[in-house]
Amino acid sequence: MIKNQSKKDLSAIMVIFGGTGDLTHRKLMPALYNLVYDKLLPERFAVVSIGRKEKTSELYREEVFKSLNERSRNKINPEYWNKLKNLIYYLQFDFTDQQGYEKLRICLEELESRLKTGGNRIFYLAVAPEYFELVVQGLHDHKLSALSGAWTRLVIEKPFGRDLITARKLNNKLNEVFDESSIYRIDHYLGKEMIQNIMVLRFCNTVFESLWSNKFIDNVQISLNEKHGVGTRGGYYEHSGAMRDMVQNHIIQILSLVAMEPPVNLKTESIRTEKLKVIQAIEDFTPEHLKNNAVFGQYGRGKIDGVPVVSYREEDRVPADSTTETFVALKLHINNFRWAGTPFYIRTGKRMGKTSAEIVIQFKSLPDILYFKEGYKQEPNLLVIRIQPNVGVFFQFNTKDFSTHNDIISAKMDTSYFNPALGNTPEAYERLIYDILRGDATLFSRWDEIEASWLFADKIIAYRGEKKFDFPNYEAGSMGPYRSFELLSKDGRRWWEI
Ligand code: BG6
Repeated sequence: MIKNQSKKDLSAIMVIFGGTGDLTHRKLMPALYNLVYDKLLPERFAVVSIGRKEKTSELYREEVFKSLNERSRNKINPEYWNKLKNLIYYLQFDFTDQQGYEKLRICLEELESRLKTGGNRIFYLAVAPEYFELVVQGLHDHKLSALSGAWTRLVIEKPFGRDLITARKLNNKLNEVFDESSIYRIDHYLGKEMIQNIMVLRFCNTVFESLWSNKFIDNVQISLNEKHGVGTRGGYYEHSGAMRDMVQNHIIQILSLVAMEPPVNLKTESIRTEKLKVIQAIEDFTPEHLKNNAVFGQYGRGKIDGVPVVSYREEDRVPADSTTETFVALKLHINNFRWAGTPFYIRTGKRMGKTSAEIVIQFKSLPDILYFKEGYKQEPNLLVIRIQPNVGVFFQFNTKDFSTHNDIISAKMDTSYFNPALGNTPEAYERLIYDILRGDATLFSRWDEIEASWLFADKIIAYRGEKKFDFPNYEAGSMGPYRSFELLSKDGRRWWEI
């Protein structure tokens, strides 16, 4: 649970573009409900949900109620539901219709004068990316975005562009209307508890931070594996692939938190600046380099938990000859004093044998001199930061096996617990919405971080586009293509499946 630590007046109206969409029903409304439950929403608050279909606020609220019952982390309690229900309004308009923005202006002015929210507004763009610029222009043309004496915040869901050029174009457009400090670019992984915990683990534990470098760390592994396939999102995914869907954003953000220098303080800009330096220090890739250090995959048919599933190419709205990657593994280096020489292996895939998001820090082993025994190799120290579905920390170290004379065994200390809320944990959106209200942008990406991560991702995506791969190359339910295992085995290492 997030505790209320804010002394600021958080009064505001939150406008959701895409109010009938999947994200709103699956994530945003449950998050708002749980914020009501935890008493974190301000007294003066309202949500205006915008959708294309004609419907009454009453009907819309009923639909939200249904979604909450399916998705909410906390059970639906009539008292809290009534509270939320009374905050929600539905407004029909099509973003391409200029008159709609006028309707929105009238609606906001009426609510603001009635609820005394002081003119503070959050515009949450939970719409397909092709509408981002259009909506922002509409807000600008109809003077919805800047009221004097009040704040306005723009929240943008991913993807932020599909490459560096489109991301820059989008950003320029946003900057015509909003200051950088009012733009909240969502990367929901940053809202997850264990991602926020990376800094605490590193900077509040002498035993970890003093060993956190190429001198003591052999390699770092970041794996975001998912059992599910692309489901109903084939149309989107086909133009995205794992590089754009997971690597350019979530994995790069995690990598930057794992590898960054301690910031001078915990202020938003200090942290973002250190994260940016990591992304900028990622070693440049040449095509030759990528040949040996990048693995792409696409899932074929297989079984997930014993149930047969179709191949990616057979998914809805995916062409039968698709060359989109549903799996990526990369070995990369961060060329700075702290990390030069320590490889970072990253991996993400759909339809994998298990769903798990983990960071493994493998420490260098001590010389096998004293406790050497034929056929036995000492296990390395491992620190595993478990993001989901298990949440917590695992640590492996060597100890004497008390049941024998001389044997050594590895002890596995595990503080993690199973979090049944698989997937985009609702807590992530709760935390993010609460931070938007408080005006804390620490868990959102700054433009230069996004720019640097596209610079990195574009090269890999271009390389993948030019090469022919023999897809599908891994069975659904497996742990990815065999080349992903080779990527590590040729270095004498392996993916840790703890
Ligand atoms: C989203 C991707 O950003 O993250 C999805 O678009 C992916 O394809 C999802 O499934 C994973 O998030 P989580 O929170 O379920 O691990």
